[in-house]
Amino acid sequence: MKKRVLSLVLALVMVLGLAACGGGNDAPKDNNQSQTSQPAPADNKTPDPAPAADKKTYNIGVSIYQFNDNFMTLYRNELENYFGTLNSDTVEYKVNIQDGKNDMAEQTNQIQNFITQGMDLIICNPVQTSSADTLIDLAVDAGIPMVLINREPLGVDANGNTVDESYPGIVDNDKVCYVGADARQSGTYQGEIVAALDNKGDMNGDGKVSYVMIIGDPENPDAQYRTEFSIKALTDAGVEVEELTAQIGNWDTNQGQQIAQNALNQFGDQIDVIFCNNDGMALGAAAAIEQAGRKVGENILLLGVDALEECQQMVQNGTMTGTVLNDHVGQSHAAVDVAVQLLNGEAIQNYYWVDYVKVDANYFK
Ligand code: GAL
Repeated sequence: MKKRVLSLVLALVMVLGLAACGGGNDAPKDNNQSQTSQPAPADNKTPDPAPAADKKTYNIGVSIYQFNDNFMTLYRNELENYFGTLNSDTVEYKVNIQDGKNDMAEQTNQIQNFITQGMDLIICNPVQTSSADTLIDLAVDAGIPMVLINREPLGVDANGNTVDESYPGIVDNDKVCYVGADARQSGTYQGEIVAALDNKGDMNGDGKVSYVMIIGDPENPDAQYRTEFSIKALTDAGVEVEELTAQIGNWDTNQGQQIAQNALNQFGDQIDVIFCNNDGMALGAAAAIEQAGRKVGENILLLGVDALEECQQMVQNGTMTGTVLNDHVGQSHAAVDVAVQLLNGEAIQNYYWVDYVKVDANYFK
């Protein structure tokens, strides 16, 4: 009899133990895992209700000009995260992000595939801004809304004025828009950071600011405007300038380093400022400056754009003069928000602009 009671108790303990284990599985396993937007997993004890008949699933195709790009990596990760936060019991956004590999043919292929797959919306970061109209036409002909990001197809300026009559443009379409930042502002901020210094950037005291310009890529308006407006801000402040060399670094750290190294060898102490169209290239230039035994803030200045985390630290510790925050969070959220509006059939604007922020030593005070 005693034995029977004992085995009953044992069996009970085992059953309870198993139940406890099962209960443990309900807890999320890893809070650090990518912040998908999925709602908290349903409690296992109540059977999953059949998916609501009115739950909408939207398929979104995203083509990024190149995954191998510091800033666009931050941007696309935030884009995906933010879409995820919008998933709910009634709507799901399935996002398919493709690498354009900096190859226009590859990207065109991706857009064509998105169309064949019947995507509900396409987000496109064009490899070539000059080919954006071809991609827009593909989407428009297929009746699929398109949100262009980061690389502004030239046609209309930030004030909505037509700057290129021949460009068919985004303005002709009520289901196409561009979300970005006005690169003129970032260039202006770079120049203003230099002009605000006591010596206005004339580090060697020869009466003019001699600079090296490291350009992103030649057909990108971000590169063109930053190159032009950084210098314009200096001349507007009454500073005499001299361009020593301007070279294309394709937004890339290694190329930025190589260009800066060559320029430092060739021009030595003549160089007052190295302007880089982005932080990726400024990181390379910073390495070249260090190797050349020069010191930012003492005998040379270094400017970038994007405000990558590491560059913000460099501005704080003085190894970089300044950068400009390219707000990937604001831009990606604006792109997703307008995508959702388009999916809901709401009216949209053709252009959405997100401000840059000047990041110099004062920014951290
Ligand atoms: C710019 C950014 C660069 C690069 C480029 C790609 O806005 O500053 O770092 O990502 O976009 O188009």
